[in-house]
Amino acid sequence: MFQFIVASGNNGKIREIREMLGDLGQVISQKDANILLEPEEWGSTFKDNALIKAKAVFNALPGNLYSVFVIADDSGICVDALGGEPGVKSARYASTTHRNAEDGANRCKLIIELEKRGVTSSRAQFVACVALVGIGSRGEYVEYVANGVCEGEVINKERGHNGFGYDSMFIPDGFSQTLAELPSEVKNSLSHRYKALLQIRDRLAHA
Ligand code: IMP
Repeated sequence: MFQFIVASGNNGKIREIREMLGDLGQVISQKDANILLEPEEWGSTFKDNALIKAKAVFNALPGNLYSVFVIADDSGICVDALGGEPGVKSARYASTTHRNAEDGANRCKLIIELEKRGVTSSRAQFVACVALVGIGSRGEYVEYVANGVCEGEVINKERGHNGFGYDSMFIPDGFSQTLAELPSEVKNSLSHRYKALLQIRDRLAHA
């Protein structure tokens, strides 16, 4: 069995990662592991930021613990009508500083930006880069990054109460409900995070 430390303070993400990796080992947050740092996400890509977060938490671990892995997810929504925005800035879209904004404020900003372009909906993608950093069962250093994409349509209103972030504004291809109207098992079977975590599971089979 493994232990996973999720390098995030986002409870929605931590819950989903626990639902998707919980059968392989214990999944705890970095706060539960007493690692209270909040690394600056200065990267310009999801991959860079996922590695920044994973390595910062890995470096704060006490010693080289075999089969303990840090998982960091950097993710966001890329909206075609907005030229790919908010992208890596998804968590701080409504913020005037480099700090994250409330989910509700970010959704409000997205609605305003769609209205400024005179559109009620747009093609969009949720993108996740998940970094896995740790020491495998044979003492080998593991550093691996996986990508997942979920295609769909973003709408200029909020529908549903499940999930987090922009879920209530995103209709995945093949559905008429938003991710926040669908049960969590459905989101977990088609999401960007799920697709990236499937590759992480494959990598863990050799760790
Ligand atoms: P990060 O924590 O810096 O990676 O920020 C990711 C941001 O993208 C979150 O704060 C959410 O607003 C958004 N996001 C990422 N994944 C999802 C998802 O599965 N559903 C809804 N919003 C998401």
